[in-house]
Amino acid sequence: MTGENKQLDRVVIFDTTLRDAEQSPGASLNISEKVEIAHQLARLGVDVIEAGYPVSSAVQFEAVKRIGEEVQGPVIAGLSRTVTRDIEAAAEALKNAPRKRIHTFISTSPEHMEHMLRLSPSEVLKKAEEAVRHAKGYTEDVEFSAQDATRSDVSFLREVIQAAIEAGATTVNIPDTVGYSIPSAFGALIADMRENVAGIEKVIISTHCHNDLGLASANSLAGVLNGARQVECTINGLGERAGNASLEEVVMAIRIRKDLYQADTGIKSTEIFRTSQMVSRLMGIPVQPNKAIVGANAFAHESGIHVDGLLKHRCTYEIMTPESVGVRGSKMVLGRHSGRHGFKVRCGELGFELNENQLTAAYEKFMELADKKKEVFDEDIVAILDDEFVDIPETFRLDYMHCASGTGTLPSATVRILYKDKVLQEAAWGDGPVDAALRAISKATSLNPELVDYGIRAVTRSSEALGEAVLRIRQGDKTYGGRGVSTDIIEASAKAYISALNHMMARGNGGGNNGP
Ligand code: KIV
Ligand code: ZN
Repeated sequence: MTGENKQLDRVVIFDTTLRDAEQSPGASLNISEKVEIAHQLARLGVDVIEAGYPVSSAVQFEAVKRIGEEVQGPVIAGLSRTVTRDIEAAAEALKNAPRKRIHTFISTSPEHMEHMLRLSPSEVLKKAEEAVRHAKGYTEDVEFSAQDATRSDVSFLREVIQAAIEAGATTVNIPDTVGYSIPSAFGALIADMRENVAGIEKVIISTHCHNDLGLASANSLAGVLNGARQVECTINGLGERAGNASLEEVVMAIRIRKDLYQADTGIKSTEIFRTSQMVSRLMGIPVQPNKAIVGANAFAHESGIHVDGLLKHRCTYEIMTPESVGVRGSKMVLGRHSGRHGFKVRCGELGFELNENQLTAAYEKFMELADKKKEVFDEDIVAILDDEFVDIPETFRLDYMHCASGTGTLPSATVRILYKDKVLQEAAWGDGPVDAALRAISKATSLNPELVDYGIRAVTRSSEALGEAVLRIRQGDKTYGGRGVSTDIIEASAKAYISALNHMMARGNGGGNNGP
């Protein structure tokens, strides 16, 4: 019995990549990057996009506002504590959004109420009720979250959730804020809410699980089995500390095991891989190779027995096809004879709608690359488009670089960088050519952040492939990501470093320097 012929329940997918994941260390995005991700989440088919926490900063406010105004389809949510000015900021940011939600939360666990909020349970109850009523004045769609629900006293949790429903909440969320629960306990908690809270049948029960014990997706799914009909999750499982439930894992588990869940989501699964790649690139956080669904090895088979089985029938070792999550089995290849139209069509298929000027600029880069390599893969095209259109002011631009290295020589690099109307030129030596190039850039720009993460990979497989460097730098308590693409990996690394410096400058952090 597969359940195929039965009416399936709908599980609402609430994506909080732009809020919970974005507040995780080093993952911050600028406004246009957030808008770009939000458009992709809409193409992916999420039901709700939590776009940010408007009261927390001008950037958060503006991002929620722009996403609410520009992104069609999903409901756009703004987070608020149960504080008047938070709710008003969320309402103001979402004023022009055709479909909006205010998501208000307060903690209900003894640990949080006593040590963090310094409020009594009855004060928390009152604040929850008042906040939902207040939010209800701005929109019909109000979500209430009982933060740290899994460490709360269950009878108090029931009371607060009931009060929120009576005040008008349409979704009630039971977060495992500190990732403390396990599937059986979390499922039982959701079942308890269903059984013991008056009025719960009128609202949607939601899960929001963190991954401190590596159980976020499993706990969310246990919630679904026990009647939760919204799952809050993030792309690549990113989020505070060890992250949140991973959207791709939850969605594919529900889809592949419909027989157990008797439910489905509105996710267009073929957009999953692309979304994962985009979030990884823009946040500067690589996807671990063995990550379920979206990792580079998720569909790679190495052992002889597995390969033999697969060649006989794919079902032997694959429970889903790579194509079903947007990983292409056979790569689509373009070359210099594909023409501008073919290139444009491919960009569209990859989710980039370009205007004529953008198309001209991107096509020129495509042709340059096609001259260097015979076959241009989708990943190459995405890399070109990302490079071309990610919107960070180019404070520094690499104009020239020369590196010398070899056996028995001291690796050295000379760089020329354009900065405002100045030309900055410096040379340096290092532990290898990449180190030398980065040192020369630091000298030229008078910026010397700490390099905290660095990775390089071939975007495609041939020896003339584009190399992509992704790195993170730290200045003070903030980190900034950068990426660079080139057929030369040293140049890709230099570009990635300059892109991270540009991110840092765009966020007003000159590392105590006023610039070169
Ligand atoms: O983890 C959490 O409890 C949260 C709430 C704001 C829902 O992120
Ligand atoms: Zn959270």
